[in-house]
Amino acid sequence: TTVLGIEGTAWNLSAAIVDEDDVIAEVTETYRPATGGIHPREAAQHHAMYASTVIERLLKEFRGKCHHPKDIDAIAFSQGPGLGACLRTVATSARALAMSLDIPLVGVNHCIGHIEIGRWKTPAKDPVVLYVSGGNSQVLAHRAGKYRIFGETLDIGIGNALDKFARSAGLSHPGGPKVEEYAKNATGYVKMPYVVKGMDFSFSGLSTAAKDALKSSSIEDVCYSFQENAFAMLVEVTERALAHTGKSEVLLAGGVGANMRLREMLDVMCDDRGARFYVPERKFMGDNGAMIAYTGLLMFKSGTTTPIENSHVDPSFRPDTVDVTWIADKHQ
Ligand code: ATP
Ligand code: FE2
Repeated sequence: TTVLGIEGTAWNLSAAIVDEDDVIAEVTETYRPATGGIHPREAAQHHAMYASTVIERLLKEFRGKCHHPKDIDAIAFSQGPGLGACLRTVATSARALAMSLDIPLVGVNHCIGHIEIGRWKTPAKDPVVLYVSGGNSQVLAHRAGKYRIFGETLDIGIGNALDKFARSAGLSHPGGPKVEEYAKNATGYVKMPYVVKGMDFSFSGLSTAAKDALKSSSIEDVCYSFQENAFAMLVEVTERALAHTGKSEVLLAGGVGANMRLREMLDVMCDDRGARFYVPERKFMGDNGAMIAYTGLLMFKSGTTTPIENSHVDPSFRPDTVDVTWIADKHQ
């Protein structure tokens, strides 16, 4: 089975063709804002401008590997969550492609895409997933036919919180990697809010507190303290999800997963609990076309397709509303 998938929920427009074994072709065009953060309308214009060349280059690469567009069985696309204007642009391209090739369309939940590529590209089988990106921060795990959300942010994603703080400190977008660099040279800890409510966490107050702390502390110390608090919150909830579900694997997903301090803290926690900790290669952590194509392949093979009339996008599409038809469930 061969599936073409298109991702474009935010800053990255990326299309890939995969089969069960590997990524056959992938082409990506990244929107980089000149100043500040992501402007939704500009990002959507970027995707609209590059959509056809990205697909053309992808099909050329595919043919170059002795395949033919006729070999493609389905077109998958990111149906949400994400920026509405970006999602609509990608969905329009996907529909056009599916109609011209006369093959089914598969609408994929972006969060589930992050999970499935991690399960594909690491040995993780049935993990607790910590999904941390710009727009999303969730702890998920498979149970009774769904990816349940065990905990999530009550306001903004951890990546956005880092980016927002970094911008207020005069650093360029994306801020996450810069905060990580500064944190390495810290000499002390500055007290910051630690907010875990039940199984949920919150980052907006922490981002603001970090901005205020810059008035009296060094940027190195503030970056370090921000990271220590935010990551401890994420690790605490991930650990409780492990205890609650009885699972023995943790999978890290999303762009913030590039952070080495976060990985170290998760690694220590997993070690203490006798759980295994998995991180996919960097290129499979941030938003990428392969994760949408591969999840589309799993869905397609288990009989799930999306009729054109049901292919509207959903900017707040929740992963726990999707029937996970591709995993046999022993509890059902
Ligand atoms: P989503 O649509 O899933 O919300 P996204 O558009 O935010 O994804 P990702 O590539 O998953 O895209 O994540 C980007 C985020 O990752 C940015 O907020 C960026 O600051 C953050 N990030 C990247 N590298 C690091 C790092 N080393 N440490 C912390 N944060 C990082
Ligand atoms: Fe993402």
